[in-house]
Amino acid sequence: MTRTARLGILLSGRGSNFQALQRAVASGDIEAEIALVVSNVEGAPGIETARSLGLATVAIPHEGRKRREHDLLVVEALREAEVDWICLAGYMRILSPAFVEAFPERIVNIHPSLLPSFPGLHAQEQAWDYGVRVSGCTVHLVDDGLDSGPIVAQATVPVDGCADAEELSARILSQEHVLYPRAMGRLLSERWRVAGRRVVFG
Ligand code: GAR
Repeated sequence: MTRTARLGILLSGRGSNFQALQRAVASGDIEAEIALVVSNVEGAPGIETARSLGLATVAIPHEGRKRREHDLLVVEALREAEVDWICLAGYMRILSPAFVEAFPERIVNIHPSLLPSFPGLHAQEQAWDYGVRVSGCTVHLVDDGLDSGPIVAQATVPVDGCADAEELSARILSQEHVLYPRAMGRLLSERWRVAGRRVVFG
């Protein structure tokens, strides 16, 4: 029998996507357990929430450390917690090759745009400023580029009717909370493989 997947959640801030994943785990929609929640920001609200839920947490600040050095500390903490899948949930760091190679095809991210449009910071503002009529969110496997790994799932969000980038962000966020648990559920329960840039299910 295969054991229940052990998730490591990485976050830098609010942690609402972490909470969406946690609810899906708690309700049994995702067959997994959250083994560790890691933040690069001491006192991040998401870490406080995780603590209040009784989850194992650790803050590993990145200040004063080289990217690779910081990443290897995070990898060590994840290994100690016997994590086999990593969910980036508002983790505002690019992973070094050393990190990505430590968990091949087992690191997942959610990004608040329809990639490959608007990678990087402030994706919702980028989309708003560009004037697109449709935006959305993307769940993808992580490589060592910027929001560039193979796409697992996307959801579209209409821009029409939004007054500003904040309103668009809120619309996208509510879709993120649906898409991320659903995509993780598929990755954990279905057969899939990466073929070139494509994640092929079945
Ligand atoms: C989310 O919108 C997530 O997609 C985004 O940060 C926000 C975190 O919110 N991530 C990125 O932009 C990564 N490139 P949360 O802390 O409430 O989940």
